[in-house]
Amino acid sequence: MAPHGSVTWRIVNILIVGGSGFLGRELTRQAWAAGHAVTATFATRAGDIPGVRRLPMDLRHSAEIAAALAETQPDAVINAAYRKTDWATTADGAIRLALAATQHGSRLVHVSSDAVFSGADVHYDESATPDPITPYGAAKAAAETAIRLFAPTTVIARTSLIIGDGGSVHEAFIHELAAGRRRGVLFTDEIRCPVHVADLARALLELTVSDHTGVCHLAGSDAISRHELGLLVADRDELDAAMLTAGSRAGTGSPGALDVRLDSTRTQRTLRTTLRGARDFLRRER
Ligand SMILES: NC(=O)c1ccc[n+]([C@@H]2O[C@H](COP(=O)([O-])OP(=O)(O)OC[C@H]3O[C@@H](n4cnc5c(N)ncnc54)[C@H](OP(=O)(O)O)[C@@H]3O)[C@@H](O)[C@H]2O)c1
Repeated sequence: MAPHGSVTWRIVNILIVGGSGFLGRELTRQAWAAGHAVTATFATRAGDIPGVRRLPMDLRHSAEIAAALAETQPDAVINAAYRKTDWATTADGAIRLALAATQHGSRLVHVSSDAVFSGADVHYDESATPDPITPYGAAKAAAETAIRLFAPTTVIARTSLIIGDGGSVHEAFIHELAAGRRRGVLFTDEIRCPVHVADLARALLELTVSDHTGVCHLAGSDAISRHELGLLVADRDELDAAMLTAGSRAGTGSPGALDVRLDSTRTQRTLRTTLRGARDFLRRER
């Protein structure tokens, strides 16, 4: 272990909380491939990642967190768990985990979200103050604040829409729209900076073994609308783009921020991993 701001941490054994989730599975796969001893926790979906130990753990229960830390003795804990509509998991659970990891002497990397911002300022770098306007954003912001104050050596890594090679909920939604299995509109005025799950996991693991502390931004380099994201996925996957209805979200009363662009320039300068933009990683191989 290393104190704040000194040499790189010696990280062998990693506990990935939320290891059954979309990001958690990729983190688990990459950490294992890099030679770490990895344990992936799950809440409801045990899943199956060859070679990786899996452990049930519910962030709502302190005893389960303590037992997982005692059993795995991790050098580092990465928290990729959340439940969007559950404050007890996303805020209280994250804080509970951070307290336990700190007491245990484990390095902590906490995954946060661009949902901590309202969109009023559009561009947000790592120094921006959270001003959430949804319960989810408020839960993420509450966790960040508590963790930053009592565990200042933690990395708090904010990210944006997480996209994979077909595996994300966002891509699944676009596929359903294009196939006519769902009805909906892709907004032209809701802007985010999508990131590829593999880039994000690589950057998080890089931060885990580094001496970084505090807030980092890990979003892709392109700010694009939900509709452009749909068109890019449709082009890559050869879907019927004409089925993707474009529309404006302003005035619909739909909750959440319209235009939130995480500026990751400062964090990117410190990383070897490139956080590609969506126009790059969704480009179809021709
Ligand atoms: N997805 C995005 O576009 C996006 C955008 C910005 C930020 N983020 C952040 O990125 C992180 C990962 O997101 P994701 O999309 O990979 O999420 P996900 O696929 O929904 O996975 C969530 C994980 O959390 C676990 N979990 C849920 N409730 C739990 C509880 N009470 N105790 C312990 N674990 C619990 C789930 O376990 P089971 O599946 O086993 O129930 C699962 O492993 C989150 O911090 C999220 O806020 C995501």
